[in-house]
Amino acid sequence: MNYNLNSLPANEVKHSTWGGLKSLLKLVEQERTTIVVAVCAILLNSTLNLLGPFLIGMTIDKYIQTKQYHGVLVFSGILFAMYSVAFVSSYFQTNLMGGVGQRIIFELRNSIFNKIQQLPVAFFNENKAGDLISRVNNDTDKLSQFFSQSLMQFIGSIVTMIGAGIFLLVINIELGIATLVPALIILIFTRGISPWVKSRNALNLKSTGSMSAEIQESLNNFKVIIAFNRRDYFKKRFDIANKENYRTAIGAGLANNIFLPVFGLFSSIAQLTVLSFGIYLITQGDFSVGLLVSYLSYATNFYNPLRQLASLWTSFQVALAGWDRISQILSLSNNLVTVFDHSAEEENPPLMEFRNVHFGYQGGFEILHNISFSMQKGKTYALVGPTGGGKTTTASVMARLYDPLQGTVLLKGRDIRSYSDQERAEKIGFILQEPFLFSGTVRENILYSNSRYHHFTNQQLMEVLEEAKLEALLHTFDQGLESPVESGGESLSIGQKQLIAFMRAVLRKPELLILDEATANIDTITEKLLGQILDNLPEETTLVVIAHRLNTIENADDIYFINSGEVTPAGSFKEAVDKLMNGKRLS
Ligand SMILES: Nc1ncnc2c1ncn2[C@@H]1O[C@H](COP(=O)(O)OP(=O)(O)O)[C@@H](O)[C@H]1O
Ligand SMILES: [Mg+2]
Repeated sequence: MNYNLNSLPANEVKHSTWGGLKSLLKLVEQERTTIVVAVCAILLNSTLNLLGPFLIGMTIDKYIQTKQYHGVLVFSGILFAMYSVAFVSSYFQTNLMGGVGQRIIFELRNSIFNKIQQLPVAFFNENKAGDLISRVNNDTDKLSQFFSQSLMQFIGSIVTMIGAGIFLLVINIELGIATLVPALIILIFTRGISPWVKSRNALNLKSTGSMSAEIQESLNNFKVIIAFNRRDYFKKRFDIANKENYRTAIGAGLANNIFLPVFGLFSSIAQLTVLSFGIYLITQGDFSVGLLVSYLSYATNFYNPLRQLASLWTSFQVALAGWDRISQILSLSNNLVTVFDHSAEEENPPLMEFRNVHFGYQGGFEILHNISFSMQKGKTYALVGPTGGGKTTTASVMARLYDPLQGTVLLKGRDIRSYSDQERAEKIGFILQEPFLFSGTVRENILYSNSRYHHFTNQQLMEVLEEAKLEALLHTFDQGLESPVESGGESLSIGQKQLIAFMRAVLRKPELLILDEATANIDTITEKLLGQILDNLPEETTLVVIAHRLNTIENADDIYFINSGEVTPAGSFKEAVDKLMNGKRLS
């Protein structure tokens, strides 16, 4: 599965106008009752507004021209009452739909966020957080605006137009057809130009996403930027992104504004037609003044909503472009599915086994070439080799952050893909090269995703830590378990972060514990402490240590050299050193 949202072929999740509207309406399925009520309100509103001109025409022909002013007064009263009810129903409808818009944005943000949470590591490698944030915030907002402000106006306008159109045709068919021809031209024009307008808006939303990604990158890396005095460089990059956003916004604006003048022009043409044709009919004696006044009013009632539709159509095209971007995320699924392993269970299988594993990151070269090895329960393994050789990649495949392109990874004799995420996370502890912490306290970070000790008091937890010989690691934190961890660990040293990550992993008592250069930033005394803790692990724990420094691998039962994606067993530490002495090089 291709996880790069910005490289997906443009038509992969692109909605046509109709398809888009349909899938958008699916979104509001559970709001059906509210929407039905709102539609009724808008129907009432439109009907009342449509009856107005008819009554006015009748008043003119029946009462004004015959000078019966009492009747004029009565009809004025009726009209006033009608318009008041129309106003109330319109207000009621607006409030209802405002709520619908807010609930949609709430639901959408939830589903996008939940979807993102389910996606595999590969997705996060491919997409910038800034762009994702823009999709969750900005694009959903466009949709919500459409639902809260535009949808009902849309329906109202169409209902009014159809009603007015019927009146126009019924009062005088020839005049009616002449009046409606310009609308037909508008319709054809709108159909033709809408995809183009939508694509302009899509470009604009995309560049908003890129700009947001640019901001995110410079905010994340501000220390490097300042230390290397590259503020100018980032300013320039932001400038480029901002200019691009400006350019696409102008493009979208130009496209969006094209409807209004065209709609305006054709509605003026229609009014002119009505007026000249109508007066001609009156001179022929086929038409009354009252009818012409009603008629003009209906023509206005037809073309005004049409003009309004122009701006609503724009808002719809913007919403559709946003919906495409949101759907792109919603249509993704985690390609790391759980499969059923049919193979018979072996007796005493190795804890971890690679069988002819090939792996490469998405869209890149193959990194691991045909790797096979097995690791036994309770033993300690060291992975050594030059930077960029593939150690972290091998460990990531072991922990199933990624699936191999070819070959199988087995955990306790079973395809690792046959374990649920929960089971796998319990069995494998992975201390990343760059540990990540959450804002909160040391305690919360140590107990992250640990159901066994979650409810323990601090004192009980300290006893557990003591037993595991972990409590000495807390000494570097002033307030022990309750020491604050701020902004995702920014307030701590990398070494301290590694200590927390270490406690987090060890406390979960995994069967396979992988340390990816976990001691690289820790002083030698603490490192000794970590060594003791590792010695103190349950007998059956399998340990995989990735390290630069030789002293951390001295105790390994088996050492693997990993270089250019090849894994070569080198035996025990002593055997490895002998090999080295015999002229074989580490890298
Ligand atoms: N997320 C990634 N996307 C693409 N390539 C990557 C990614 N992570 C690592 N690589 C590449 O994989 C190779 C092995 O990297 P890695 O396993 O991190 O090496 P090591 O841990 O041995 O230093 C390198 O060439 C690196 O550029
Ligand atoms: Mg590494």
